[in-house]
Amino acid sequence: MAESYRNRSESDRRSGNYRRFRDISVSERILNTAFLLTVGIGYLVALANMYYTHQGRDGKAGLSIDDVMVAYHGSHNQTRLGSAIKGIMEPNLKYKSDKDVILQWIHNGAEEPEYQERIAPILNRDCITCHTPAINPSLPDLTQYAGVAQVAHSGGATLPFLIRVSHIHLFGIAFILYFIGKIFLLCDMNVIVKRIAVVIPFAAMLLDVMSWFVTKSFPEFAYVVVASGALMGVSMGMQILVSIWQMWFYSTKTIEPEAT
Ligand code: HEC
Repeated sequence: MAESYRNRSESDRRSGNYRRFRDISVSERILNTAFLLTVGIGYLVALANMYYTHQGRDGKAGLSIDDVMVAYHGSHNQTRLGSAIKGIMEPNLKYKSDKDVILQWIHNGAEEPEYQERIAPILNRDCITCHTPAINPSLPDLTQYAGVAQVAHSGGATLPFLIRVSHIHLFGIAFILYFIGKIFLLCDMNVIVKRIAVVIPFAAMLLDVMSWFVTKSFPEFAYVVVASGALMGVSMGMQILVSIWQMWFYSTKTIEPEAT
């Protein structure tokens, strides 16, 4: 079985039965090119969209690795309680020094034992006159740990959010990569390079999506998010450019066709 399969692909190779760009009509080339260019522009717009949704999350203009960490992991520096106590709610504190006590607690992870010991007395004295659901249901409830924890953590991306985005991402991008790859297979090139090249964008996308979930717990993984995202973009871009180049500008007359 294996033997006959190999023989078949040998004879295909010799007779050039694998389709190449030279075998497709001009109409098909136009269709392929229109698709590849549209996807390429779509990708650039997606990059711009990513820039505008993530830039400045860390409080500084421009997109940086910290923005990615804050997006998925959250940040102790950017909680609603922290901002309020440094800003509009500060005058409500009886003692200014309590501001640092609260900020330190947030920085330490806003855990419950320390809350009961050091934070609850402050909030009960200075804050719950207003921050009680019975009085102001629309304000954060500062009478108990659950309510305080909500504003003391900035969780980054939630699990349901990540699941929703990753299922859209995987389905949508898999289609795009598949069609780009189908076109790219018509290129003339070293067959090993080609086999690896069609897998890279898929592998990079999977790694990217997986590292979102890991970054939620381990912010250092933001580097993997960025690197794998970049790898996917670059490998996809290479497939698009090489395909368009070979479709229109590449002479195949002297080169023997190789197996797909
Ligand atoms: C006199 C009433 C009053 C007191 C006392 C008070 N707050 Fe507030 N707090 C408010 C109001 C009103 C808002 C809504 C302000 C807004 O949305 O602009 C608010 C909003 C907040 C918010 C939410 C900010 C956001 O991100 O939307 C936090 C957190 C907060 N307060 C914390 C505190 C803390 C901590 C204390 C005690 C040190 C405190 N507040 C004392 C009235 C009060």
